Amino acid sequence: MKGLVLSGGKGTRLYPITYTSAKQLVPVANKPVLFRVIEAIVEAGIMEIGVVVGDTAEEIENAVGDGSRWGARITYIPQEAPLGLAHAVKISQDFLGDERFVMFLGDNVIESGISSLVRQFQDSDYNCQIVLTHVPHPEQYGVAELEDGRIVRLVEKPRQPKSNLALVGIYMFDHHVFEAVNAITPSWRGELEITDAIQYLVDKGYKVYPYVHEGWWIDTGAPGDMLDANRLVLDEIVHRIEGYVDRDSRVSGKVTIEKGAKIINSVIRGPAIIGQETRIVNSYVGPFTSIYHHVSIEGSEIEHSIVLEHSRIIDIDQRIENSLIGRNVEITRSPLKPKAHKMTLGDNSRLGIVCNG
Ligand code: G1P
Repeated sequence: MKGLVLSGGKGTRLYPITYTSAKQLVPVANKPVLFRVIEAIVEAGIMEIGVVVGDTAEEIENAVGDGSRWGARITYIPQEAPLGLAHAVKISQDFLGDERFVMFLGDNVIESGISSLVRQFQDSDYNCQIVLTHVPHPEQYGVAELEDGRIVRLVEKPRQPKSNLALVGIYMFDHHVFEAVNAITPSWRGELEITDAIQYLVDKGYKVYPYVHEGWWIDTGAPGDMLDANRLVLDEIVHRIEGYVDRDSRVSGKVTIEKGAKIINSVIRGPAIIGQETRIVNSYVGPFTSIYHHVSIEGSEIEHSIVLEHSRIIDIDQRIENSLIGRNVEITRSPLKPKAHKMTLGDNSRLGIVCNG
């Protein structure tokens, strides 16, 4: 089998974080979501992986490389515009050839990988198998209707969903999908929809079956989703201290402290991860927090948050919570009177400040 990862798109819901960076490269528990996707595919035994890229191609290629660090071979497939998931399949035909393949959206995080579902498809004579999961708000997703264990209908973001089974961003196909993507026409939003391609397969009598995923799954489109994914992944990290923790600090719960990190006179309460060359001084880092590499946190408190590389948080006396803080961000207290917060924030930044009195 081959793998196809979709890594285009603008990530508008994650602005301003994604103004300058691809959404698939935002880290969850200090590892870019896209790397987690590639690792899940490799773990399922698939080494030939195509990555469909758009405007952020250069950045993705620089970060991912040729795949050799995972023992995989990566081929980049440029998509000239975000014309839909089925369009991405269409332009990948040369790469995929006649092989069966798994398609995985590069901004999705799924519990316990994809090995078992890839194995099930490999051992079957299905033409297509799609991963579904029960969700509380099916109207936000593609929704499937089943009959006798088979898929009979798929509707993209229905107003009145007929089931609560949403399409997770993971699909498996054989070469018949090319017949489908060449036959369908663009939807009202101008995209070739993968749901229309799958519906075509159903209507032509091909074998289309579901795989119902029971663990958690997160489409990391918005900041809240990033924090949820971060919390769920941090729950599974291993306790590993490779950095320096001084005698005045206390580290409790499951905590990873990466190489070159320094914890000075601070409290770290896991699950949490502190990245390479990051300094935590006279501070508190609470549960469900991921601090990426080369960050400085001094005289401050933070929990349930993600902080990206090269940012500085200095002498903030209110605890920072539920925050996604980008790269090279500075949050400091001005030394000048009157007492004031001093910040440099990007366009569309959001900041909640508690005012006394
Ligand atoms: C896409 C698919 C949808 C699926 C979702 C999963 O939606 O079209 O069927 O449920 O991914 O993340 P999009 O995120 O492009 O709105």
